Amino acid sequence: MPSILILAFIATFSFLSLASTAPSGVNHTPIPPEAPNRSIHEKPIKGRITAPFPPHTPAGGLALNEIPNYHPLSDFDFQSLNLAQYTEWIELDLFRYALDKFSLKDFEEAGLTKADRALVAYMAEQEVGHATNVYNMLGPAAAKPCQYKYPFKTVREFITFSKQLTRVGEAGVLGFIEHLNSRPSAQLLLQTVTVEARQQMVFRQFEGLFPMPVWFQTAITQSMQWSLQARYIVSCPAINHKYPLIWQVFPELRITNNPNSTDPHFGPAISTLRTALSHSGREVKFEFDAPGKKVGPDGKYTTSTNAGAPKYAAWISQLNVTYTPLEDVKAAESNGDKVGRTTTKQPDVPDIYPGLTTRGHHVINGTVFVALVDDNVYVTPANLSELNAHVVAGPALYQAG
Ligand SMILES: *[C@@H]1O[C@H](CO)[C@@H](O)[C@H](O)[C@H]1NC(C)=O
Ligand SMILES: *[C@@H]1O[C@H](CO)[C@@H](O)[C@H](O)[C@H]1NC(C)=O
Ligand SMILES: *[C@@H]1O[C@H](CO)[C@@H](O)[C@H](O)[C@H]1NC(C)=O
Ligand SMILES: *[C@@H]1O[C@H](CO)[C@@H](O)[C@H](O)[C@H]1NC(C)=O
Ligand SMILES: *[C@@H]1O[C@H](CO)[C@@H](O)[C@H](O)[C@H]1NC(C)=O
Repeated sequence: MPSILILAFIATFSFLSLASTAPSGVNHTPIPPEAPNRSIHEKPIKGRITAPFPPHTPAGGLALNEIPNYHPLSDFDFQSLNLAQYTEWIELDLFRYALDKFSLKDFEEAGLTKADRALVAYMAEQEVGHATNVYNMLGPAAAKPCQYKYPFKTVREFITFSKQLTRVGEAGVLGFIEHLNSRPSAQLLLQTVTVEARQQMVFRQFEGLFPMPVWFQTAITQSMQWSLQARYIVSCPAINHKYPLIWQVFPELRITNNPNSTDPHFGPAISTLRTALSHSGREVKFEFDAPGKKVGPDGKYTTSTNAGAPKYAAWISQLNVTYTPLEDVKAAESNGDKVGRTTTKQPDVPDIYPGLTTRGHHVINGTVFVALVDDNVYVTPANLSELNAHVVAGPALYQAG
């Protein structure tokens, strides 16, 4: 029965086109009473059935007897979904822009084929679906498409940028999905972000990188996601500013010697033994802005930090946040702006679960998030937002592999 309800609901909503301004049926339900206490103090179930149950339906679980409500049910939900909406719009624009800018000949010169270009075109269509899906959950206050600026000039640079932008979208949703009040909305987002993860893998394969050098995909916080995205948005329609995002934009962090995967020597491959782009112990050089800079759409957002002096680089990768001490932190100038400079060493996190495989599994690989922080607090995927207050600048995307 619940699955029939879900299908009926999605079918109704697919009729709402992007252009329609007022999905008048949208029923903004107030914040529900406090969710059941799922704190650490609850006793884990060990396997034995603990309560009577109807046939084939074990006791417990959440919202199994409710009609799913595919809408934000808290400010947290709205702000998180609207952030995802910004991401879907920029991805849609990015793929369309690239298809417009680069001809089949350009793709072929980058070692790609007609079918590869068609795959990017298909991704643009996927983004239309994703944007519509989030839009339908949010209703008319949802962010509308904006104007963007991109830091690439060639097909290969576009591939690198897309690999990183899809990474941000995926990690952002993985970071907040656990905390949404509306579990039905969380489910739809999850069914979106798994496609985005596949897009990211395709871009890696276009570059001849090992398709997925991780065991777990990384989660980041909304403020980290917004910080990484806002800088590419030039200007947005007025409605976006009527309902601004309240996530923090941290000062920008730049890696001045990021490993570069844009090497024309390597063509696309399903899998490859391309040598590692980086290694533990590698010196990584940073430049970071001071807070107070106007950024994002129409300069309406201002970078800020709540942290003290930078002490560590926080490497956010897979299930772990690993800290390395910063060396030689100093004030400098770059194009007349006051900036900070510092370095650290790429950490060695040899194994996510020691002893499981003979090769081990290095945690720092693929596109990794790195931020400068003032303290090395212990955080895990579900309480990563505890790190926000310690971020001095960043995150930046480190291309470990
Ligand atoms: C959850 O349970 C813990 C431990 O029993 C308690 O300290 C906490 O106040 C509870 N939280 C809520 C929201 O009920
Ligand atoms: C990366 O390497 C390519 C090929 O050698 C070069 O064209 C490009 O400028 C490099 N990009 C960066 C950001 O260093
Ligand atoms: C990343 O993973 C690839 C594929 O398994 C491996 O070849 C490479 O050495 C790894 N890089 C690092 C930095 O561990
Ligand atoms: C990485 O995180 C996992 C899961 O939280 C933990 O078991 C493991 O010890 C961590 N590994 C390292 C090297 O910190
Ligand atoms: C985050 O959660 C872990 C448990 O997974 C806990 O040990 C740690 O203290 C928490 N961190 C903060 C800053 O609350």
